[in-house]
Amino acid sequence: MKMAEKQISLPAKLINGGAAGIIGVTCIFPIDLVKTRLQNQRSGQQVYKSMLDCLMKTLRSEGCFGMYRGAAVNLTLVTPEKAIKLAANDYFRHLLGKEGVALSLSKEMLAGCGAGVCQVVITTPMEMLKIQLQDAGRLASQQIVSRVSCSTSGCNLVTVNPILTRAYNVGPAVIPRRISATQIAAELLHTHGIKGLYKGLGATLLRDVPFSVIYFPLFAHLNRAGQDSLEERTSFFRSFLAGCMAGSVAAVSVNPCDVIKTRLQSMGKGRNEENYSGITDCARKIWIKEGPSAFLKGASCRALVIAPLFGIAQGIYFIGVGEFLINLCQNGRLSP
Ligand SMILES: *[C@@H]1O[C@H](CO)[C@@H](O)[C@H](O)[C@H]1NC(C)=O
Ligand SMILES: *[C@@H]1O[C@H](CO)[C@@H](O)[C@H](O)[C@H]1NC(C)=O
Repeated sequence: MKMAEKQISLPAKLINGGAAGIIGVTCIFPIDLVKTRLQNQRSGQQVYKSMLDCLMKTLRSEGCFGMYRGAAVNLTLVTPEKAIKLAANDYFRHLLGKEGVALSLSKEMLAGCGAGVCQVVITTPMEMLKIQLQDAGRLASQQIVSRVSCSTSGCNLVTVNPILTRAYNVGPAVIPRRISATQIAAELLHTHGIKGLYKGLGATLLRDVPFSVIYFPLFAHLNRAGQDSLEERTSFFRSFLAGCMAGSVAAVSVNPCDVIKTRLQSMGKGRNEENYSGITDCARKIWIKEGPSAFLKGASCRALVIAPLFGIAQGIYFIGVGEFLINLCQNGRLSP
């Protein structure tokens, strides 16, 4: 009898997750960068008016390569991240379920929850590094703006975090100086220890756990919708669409946590930008100073990032790229 869920080995999952991540990052990263910049700008000092405006300005001032600042972080860590998440989800589903019987919704959610908790071990430092790299260009252009407006009144320049000062050019040129993820990681470890890399851990948990709780069961249901029996296989297109839909619903639902996380993790602050002492302090200040709508900042960008990322992942998972490659290696020939 064919099982409802394919039995896939961990190495095959790793390849699937890695391939999905690499294709995803290549296609989607510029939108992810725009999301970070939009979320980080406060009302009153806006450099970018909209998603498109941010895309165009970044492309103009930082070039094609600038759109991919921080992508190396994702490319390197996406395979372990995906591996942990998918393996954990399957493990918990296996642990909670009985063979041949569909999991109840609450158990599906519990499995998703477990997967989310396991995943943050990698995503927190990953996001921390990525955000510094993605946001450097916004801070640099904001600095240029404030320098110009300040030079006549003679006010002082912004003081930025010493770790990041090297990322900005304090001179008249617009292009921020290149600083690598490893340099940021090394300096963070040196100045703050391991805690530095795990800044925003709470907010990341608050985002990723509910995300998984919503995503995995929703995907499983959409993927299965309209089918009579569990044995029936879904199609590639259905898996892709189910991944996109479940991903965007989950992404928009947890966007408030994503805004808070992005704010907490940004070390380089622009002029007059708020300091936040923690999640509740950050949430309170955003609510008071920027209004409830600020929690939806970058939501459409995030949906645009997450939907294709998860659609691609589910598609690759469906095709079974990993199983295919492993089979190829073991048998040395192209046989199923
Ligand atoms: C990069 O990785 C982070 C952390 O897992 C993730 O939230 C983000 O969506 C990724 N971006 C892309 C474009 O893959
Ligand atoms: C944030 O903290 C820095 C140094 O701790 C301080 O100079 C700055 O004025 C603070 N910003 C705000 C908006 O309070």
